[in-house]
Amino acid sequence: MTARWLEIEIGRLALNTPVHLDQGPSGIVVIRTERGVVAYEDVCPHHGWQISSGDVRNGEIECPGHGWTFRLDTGACSSTLGYGLRSLRVVTCGASVRIEYPEPRPPRCSPCDASLTTGG
Ligand code: FES
Repeated sequence: MTARWLEIEIGRLALNTPVHLDQGPSGIVVIRTERGVVAYEDVCPHHGWQISSGDVRNGEIECPGHGWTFRLDTGACSSTLGYGLRSLRVVTCGASVRIEYPEPRPPRCSPCDASLTTGG
C-alpha cells in the first residue's frame, strides 16, 4: 500500500482536542498534546467507532462507543489489553506537522475480490 502526506498548521490544533481529517481509508484523528502532535487512524479496534468523537483526559482518549480508553502517546488500549489504535507517522516541520497516511483502498470487485481499475 502506498502512502501520502498531508500538512496541517499546528496553530489550527487546540490542545487535547481531537480533530478528524477525512483522509485515508478510515479518516485520521490528530491531537496536539503537551508532548507534541499525535495521529492515528480514526477507527476504534473494538467496533469501529470514530475515536475523534471521544473525550481526552489524563493523557488518554475515550472511545464514544463503549468507553475503551487509549493512551495518546502510544495508542495502546489501557482498558482492554492487546488492542490499540493504528498510529500514523508525524513529522514536525516549523509551524506545521506532516502526517503520513495510507491511500484509500480501491473499490473491490464482488465476487472475485480483485481491485477495480480505470482506463482502457
Ligand atoms: S467501538 Fe470503541 S469501545 Fe466499542
